[in-house]
Amino acid sequence: MKKFSVVIAGGGSTFTPGIVMMLLDNLDRFPLRTLKLYDNDKDRQKILGEALEILLKEQAPEIEFLYTTDPKTAFTDVDFCMAHIRVGKYAMREKDEKVPLRHGVFGQETCGPGGIAYGMRSITGMLEIIDYMEQYSPNCWMLNYSNPAAIVAEACRVLRPNSKVLNICDMPVGTLRRMSQIVGKKPEELEVRYFGLNHFGWWTSVKDKEGHEYLDQIRDYVSEHGYLTQIEVDTQHTDPSWQETHKKAKDILAVAPEYLPNTYLKYYLYPDYVFEHMKEHPEYTRANEVMQGREKHVFDHARKIIENGSAEGIGFDIDAHATFIVDLARAIAFNTHERMVMIVENNGAIANFPDNAMVEVPCIVGVDGPEPLTQGNIPAFQHALMFQQVTVEKLVVEAYVEKSYQKMWQALTLSKTVPSAQVAKELLDDLIKENGDFWPELH
Ligand code: NAD
Ligand code: G6P
Ligand code: MN
Repeated sequence: MKKFSVVIAGGGSTFTPGIVMMLLDNLDRFPLRTLKLYDNDKDRQKILGEALEILLKEQAPEIEFLYTTDPKTAFTDVDFCMAHIRVGKYAMREKDEKVPLRHGVFGQETCGPGGIAYGMRSITGMLEIIDYMEQYSPNCWMLNYSNPAAIVAEACRVLRPNSKVLNICDMPVGTLRRMSQIVGKKPEELEVRYFGLNHFGWWTSVKDKEGHEYLDQIRDYVSEHGYLTQIEVDTQHTDPSWQETHKKAKDILAVAPEYLPNTYLKYYLYPDYVFEHMKEHPEYTRANEVMQGREKHVFDHARKIIENGSAEGIGFDIDAHATFIVDLARAIAFNTHERMVMIVENNGAIANFPDNAMVEVPCIVGVDGPEPLTQGNIPAFQHALMFQQVTVEKLVVEAYVEKSYQKMWQALTLSKTVPSAQVAKELLDDLIKENGDFWPELH
């Protein structure tokens, strides 16, 4: 079997060790010859790099491993780049979540003003790593988790239309695990139909391989419990704030009960509720929860491995997030034609939605990448919400390209999460100040 060379961009990410563990777990299905980490923060990456070097020496010494901040070393001779960078790191995520609160609007990593601000930062970092990849390994695929995926995907469509970049999100797979628990099946036994934008979609069908439809059964469950399940099958989204989010799916479903909603719709359908909730502890947002939780946990484990000089007895968690990206690499590498929900250019997949919108739909994935499956026409309620949101995402990318203050103001004004043009302007001026050189200068 062919052996592959993989670089993880954003090597210092809290998700890097989980993906490495998952890769090691899958060597029989997806063999590796080289594994590299790349980051532009040397000190942060070094901790995970050193620990993983020890772990790999013990568990898979045949794989060449290195970590680097040099783009040429990182991107030369690679088949896949698994990317998850966070431009501005946790310090800026904290601002994305806290700045909007000053203006009476909730703050979130990928939705509303926080997501818009993060989008403006991410585009520059994404273009940088795409260009490195194409310069040093022109045939490489980038499998990209870097957020906000909707804006990043639109930026790729506009600015790097021919690049081999696939944008993905782990929320549909994480939630499918919960659905599988609800109906007593394994996730891989279920096949879905789904339409939407990233962090903005609905399941229209959840069937087993024999064709039995579980939509009604899952709807009954969600209308009572949301996506809260007894056993934590989705081990990634377990912190108290996530439990709250899974529970809230019950109220999202109540608005449009025909389909099963993505949990992220709470930010668009219940923004006032999210804001009131955040106002109770404005100094402690999700960024703080992660810094004291996942980030601390992952880096503490890495430090322990370095201190012991061995990874024996110290593992890292593997979750749906890692499973999905490794399965995707495998689908391309071995032309498996697996069915996966991905972010792609619409081109008729949602019949009554613009061709040039980046949408999230099931695709068949093989050696040439994803082939979207047609989802037909969608109802007016979902269509109107999606059209408003996709226009926000397009305006952000246009604002980035044209360095346009006016278009950013329009993007924030149009976001369903912002109450008026006045608030949007005040927010924009504050975001410009707080994001400094991370944003292009707008005029
Ligand atoms: P993190 O801050 O721990 O890791 C991100 C790393 O990227 C940092 O080490 C940082 O130094 C590095 N980085 C920033 N800019 C860079 C650049 N230009 N070049 C190279 N490296 C750069 O963040 P995290 O919480 O582990 O999340 C990582 C990313 O994955 C985020 O964008 C997050 O939103 C995303 N994510 C996406 C999904 C999804 O569903 N698409 C799921 C989980 C996480
Ligand atoms: C889900 C989403 C990701 C998002 C993540 C945030 O997995 O699909 O896009 O980045 O949640 O999780 P966190 O634990 O960092 O708040
Ligand atoms: Mn996501």
